[in-house]
Amino acid sequence: MNTRVYDLKTEYEAGMDAAADVLRQGGLVAFPTETVYGLGADACNGAAVSRIFAAKGRPGDNPLIVHVCAAGQAGEIAQITPLAAKLMDAFWPGPFTAVLPSRGVVCREVTAGLGTVGVRMPAAGSARELIRRSGRLIAAPSANLSGRPSPTEAGHVLADFDGVVPIILDGGPADCGVESTVCDLTGEVPIILRPGGVTAEMIRQAAGEVQVARAVLEGLGKDEHAASPGMKYKHYAPKAKVWVVDGDSPNTIAKKLKAMYDSMQDEKCVILCADCRAGEYPGRNVMSIGADRAAIARNLFGALREADRQEYANVFFEAVSPDGMGLAIMNRIIRAAGFHIV
Ligand code: TXA
Ligand code: MG
Repeated sequence: MNTRVYDLKTEYEAGMDAAADVLRQGGLVAFPTETVYGLGADACNGAAVSRIFAAKGRPGDNPLIVHVCAAGQAGEIAQITPLAAKLMDAFWPGPFTAVLPSRGVVCREVTAGLGTVGVRMPAAGSARELIRRSGRLIAAPSANLSGRPSPTEAGHVLADFDGVVPIILDGGPADCGVESTVCDLTGEVPIILRPGGVTAEMIRQAAGEVQVARAVLEGLGKDEHAASPGMKYKHYAPKAKVWVVDGDSPNTIAKKLKAMYDSMQDEKCVILCADCRAGEYPGRNVMSIGADRAAIARNLFGALREADRQEYANVFFEAVSPDGMGLAIMNRIIRAAGFHIV
């Protein structure tokens, strides 16, 4: 199969029409959202959704998020509780996925047999237009091979799926860079299953209360049940070994990191850190990945892919405090590191 990349800046109409056709015929389309690129299929077509799992090598028990283009569509596939209505109103369109009781309308491949369904209305206008034009609800995980860093540019999607996916819509680099916040809204209090572009603080402000699932910053115990099945798999991992370096102060972190880096001189190493920290590491390979948390989140996955491209054996990452966007950043990087924090 030939993969056709449409640049949405210059080929918007042609790209959208071709992609909508492919979706209606049960095929796969990679498309940009404000978080990361998604790999979409018709959420009510079991054979189409199975193609997503096959292309990604994704375990069948890990459910997919259903993307809608209007808040009203959520009620067709899920039961909207008062809490859900409030949070959807606050955060849609945007990087917020509501996990709600399913009405059984989407195919069972999407929900992986769970009684709940994750629903999200993306902020990216082209994503909503694609849903509208196709006349379908779109089930879409991130458009990466299972286990690899999520794609924040069309080139990342092409690297994983060239010759496998017929259409990639190129909308430029993703704004947010980490995936949506997945939030269980089936109870009285919202529970963050996966932190993302909408922070815990924002949800607390809108709902009055919020809980964060323990697995967000810790691995699951051996026999522990995963509230969000995606949390039990190794994730976001580049080929390089990732070391997350933590400490009581920036100074302690830098000291520890330098000692580790210098002890691995026979291997190719790189340090990922905030722009203002790059000067701490003279004479060493540094990729500065942004001035603030939002920029670090935006650039994180791309930096992990770049580290592989440059064949680094070890990637060192300065831990950030887990508040605001820091929670999503730490959730992703500790998974990339296989839960290994030093
Ligand atoms: O930003 C995003 O959410 C991107 C874009 C494309 O929308 N999508 C994305 O999908 O990140 P994916 O499949 O890579 O991650 C979805 C996560 C998984 O951890 C999955 O287990 C969880 O959401 N999830 C989906 N449905 C669920 C459900 N019914 N209950 C609990 N967790 C669910
Ligand atoms: Mg993913």
